Amino acid sequence: MTEPASLIDPLKRIGTVTRVTASAVELTLPNALAASGRRGLAKGSVGDFVFVDCDRETVLGRITEVGIPEKQRPGLEHQIEQEALVEPNGRVQLLATVSKTTRKVSRGISAQPRVGDGVYLADGSALAASIQDALRGGTQGDRDPLMINLGRLAGLEDAEISIPPEKLFGRHCGVFGATGGGKSWTVSRLVNEVVRIGGKCILFDPTGEFTGKVEGARQFAFAEATLPDQPLVRFPSKLLSELDLHALLTPTGQSQGPMLRGATKSLRMSKALRDAPQQFVQEVEGSRTKVLIQQGQNPVGYVVIEEHGSIEKANQSRVAYGRAELLLAEHLAAEQCNFDFRVLSRQVRNECVRPVGNDAGSFGGLDSAAIGYCNTLIIRIETYLSSPELACIFSEDGLDISAEIESFLGAPNANAMVLSFEKVSFKHNTRELLLNTLGRYLLVLARQGRFRECPLVCFLDEAHQFIGRSVGDEQNHVSLDAFGLIAKEGRKYGLTTVIATQRPRDVPQDVLSQLGTLFVHRLTNERDRETIEKACGDLDKSAAAFIPALAQGEAIVVGPDLPAPLPLMMTKPEKGQQPESHGPRYQQFWGRQVAVIENQPHNPGAE
Ligand SMILES: Nc1ncnc2c1ncn2[C@@H]1O[C@H](COP(=O)(O)OP(=O)(O)O)[C@@H](O)[C@H]1O
Ligand SMILES: [Mg+2]
Repeated sequence: MTEPASLIDPLKRIGTVTRVTASAVELTLPNALAASGRRGLAKGSVGDFVFVDCDRETVLGRITEVGIPEKQRPGLEHQIEQEALVEPNGRVQLLATVSKTTRKVSRGISAQPRVGDGVYLADGSALAASIQDALRGGTQGDRDPLMINLGRLAGLEDAEISIPPEKLFGRHCGVFGATGGGKSWTVSRLVNEVVRIGGKCILFDPTGEFTGKVEGARQFAFAEATLPDQPLVRFPSKLLSELDLHALLTPTGQSQGPMLRGATKSLRMSKALRDAPQQFVQEVEGSRTKVLIQQGQNPVGYVVIEEHGSIEKANQSRVAYGRAELLLAEHLAAEQCNFDFRVLSRQVRNECVRPVGNDAGSFGGLDSAAIGYCNTLIIRIETYLSSPELACIFSEDGLDISAEIESFLGAPNANAMVLSFEKVSFKHNTRELLLNTLGRYLLVLARQGRFRECPLVCFLDEAHQFIGRSVGDEQNHVSLDAFGLIAKEGRKYGLTTVIATQRPRDVPQDVLSQLGTLFVHRLTNERDRETIEKACGDLDKSAAAFIPALAQGEAIVVGPDLPAPLPLMMTKPEKGQQPESHGPRYQQFWGRQVAVIENQPHNPGAE
């Protein structure tokens, strides 16, 4: 084995510490001047990694500022005639401590530099090796730890950095950056790395740009399938939660909301009664079924179920209905709708009865005024059931996504699932609701302990479209909080997320605070940068100053498990794995001259 390169190479000395503050040092940089003809030999520029030699330990830092003292500036102008006698100086942001003997990198500055300490340029491979050791540390097990390759330290050769999945995904991960900064490529890279190391992940793809870009993935499309290997899926409406249903149907006013809730309850009751014929005696009468409800051994009356499963209330026993409500309380309080939507509008109508009839024990007759109030709701339900936009929830076309997720989770060799939302409509908030519902569904699985044995990572690109927003109107306000909840509680169940967005300021505070590792690509918006700075203590003003100037694919990676903020040039995804987001294709379609035949006046109706 060759001796690893020493951390401090006397030939790489660039200057001497002249002033020390708690988190930075100032230093002289005698060789930083780009003298005429010797620009390439200058040593010490912004962004360079340096070691400050503090005897037994060294402090890793990064140059954030280089300048020439005010007094010496006029002298610089004579540089052309004679050698300039100026002494540049600079500032170094201190990042972490590295022990000289063990090469161990640890967070924080445990050895204070002193004025007079030497400062040396860091050698890429030695630095990367130390950081790599620090990152690998703490992973248990006797086999070599699984590592996710990220990229190399920006500006250094031989400085590959990889990180174990625990430290990357263990506390949720954020990928931020302005459009074109490299978020989708980073996501593709991470997903493909998860596949390579045999992990499990689901990628929610809002634009369809990841289709075919993830090695060996099971791919599905909502709303419309265009490719043979990307079959159509739908979210079964019975798994919708009642909250989502209200956000979708937005019942208005004083009467529609209660009627919709009543209808939901009745339909669940109808299903529960029919599912338990041993417990509830059923008498078929023509197309209707009368279900006997008992209190102990004593019959209290019938609940009447119509042909397609709706419950008739008008003039029927109120006592029996009330008793059934008590007996089935658990079924009626379920989170998921779990009933047949095709009879919902009928049931809403059936709910419109006068509260009491001739005797206190029964409901009154149909209340036509109430039906009038609910008319718009009834029409909306029927329109939605047949609307093409909502077909991904209400139609029977396509595979059932819950079954596909089950099968994916159960298959040991399936590593990735890509769900395309490309064709899902923006109308009726379908996209947001669909994704939120899926998130909620995953959270239910998580709470059942499904990911304890096999952790799952959900990737969400363009997350600003989905999280931290609310849909519906004032009365039916639903926050799209499923991914927020996953961020808050998913971790303990083995379900974590990677959230990529260009608008970090829209990510709710409580989600931001749960994120561990952050990939910060180029960000130009001031408020976005402030949000990031606030969210992670590691990134102070001088480190954040690099963010607006990052190159495409370059990111500052910060997190509690990283020894210091690391500026990385992310490794490109492989050729067939690079997502391409197309803008409008002007070059392809504009400017094509079509020959106009002169003598034939344009006459559209003539064909
Ligand atoms: N790691 C990288 N290395 C080299 N180029 C990259 C890298 N990441 C992104 N790019 C370039 O930046 C472009 C935009 O990246 P993309 O991930 O689509 O941005 P975003 O999703 O942030 O809008 C890509 O088309 C590619 O040319
Ligand atoms: Mg993108």
